[in-house]
Amino acid sequence: MDKTKKAKRYERVFLQLSGLLDKPGNRLSKMATIAAVLHHKMDHFFWTGFYLANKDTLTAGPYQGPVACQTLDKDQGVCWAAVNRGESIIVRDVHRFPGHIACDGRSNSEIVVPLKDGTGSVTAVLDIDSRDFDAFDEIDRHGLESILSLLDK
Ligand code: SME
Repeated sequence: MDKTKKAKRYERVFLQLSGLLDKPGNRLSKMATIAAVLHHKMDHFFWTGFYLANKDTLTAGPYQGPVACQTLDKDQGVCWAAVNRGESIIVRDVHRFPGHIACDGRSNSEIVVPLKDGTGSVTAVLDIDSRDFDAFDEIDRHGLESILSLLDK
C-alpha cells in the first residue's frame, strides 16, 4: 500500500476505534475489538493479535487470522524481543530474525508493539504478521502505537 494511503487508513481506523473504545469496559474485549478492526481494514495484515505477558509466559490473547501458537518459548522470537527491549520491533524478513517463531510458514514480515502498564512493565504485545516481505514501516509503528494508547483512556 502506498505510504499516503496507509497513513490515511490509519487515521480512519484510529477514529473508528476511538468511538468503539470510548466507554469504560473490559480490556480483553477492547483488545478483541482492536484486532478485528485492524485485521479487516488493513490489507497487508495476515495475522493480527495480542500475546498476553504473565511473569515468564507469553500466551495468545484475542486474535484474527490463522490458528497461532498458544504459548511462545521464553526469550525466543520477535514478541519476546519486544517485551525484553520494551519497544516496538519491525522485522522486514522474519526468516533472517534469529529465533523467530514461525506459527504459520506463510508469514514473511512482522511488527510487534508492546503494551505497558503505569509502571512501565509490558503487559501484552500487539503482533502483526504479513505475507509480504518488508510490509511494515514507521507509519505502521506510529499508527499502531497511537491505537494502543486508546486502551489507557
Ligand atoms: N512470530 C512470532 C510468534 C507469534 S506469531 O507470529 C503469531 C515471534 O517470533 O515471536
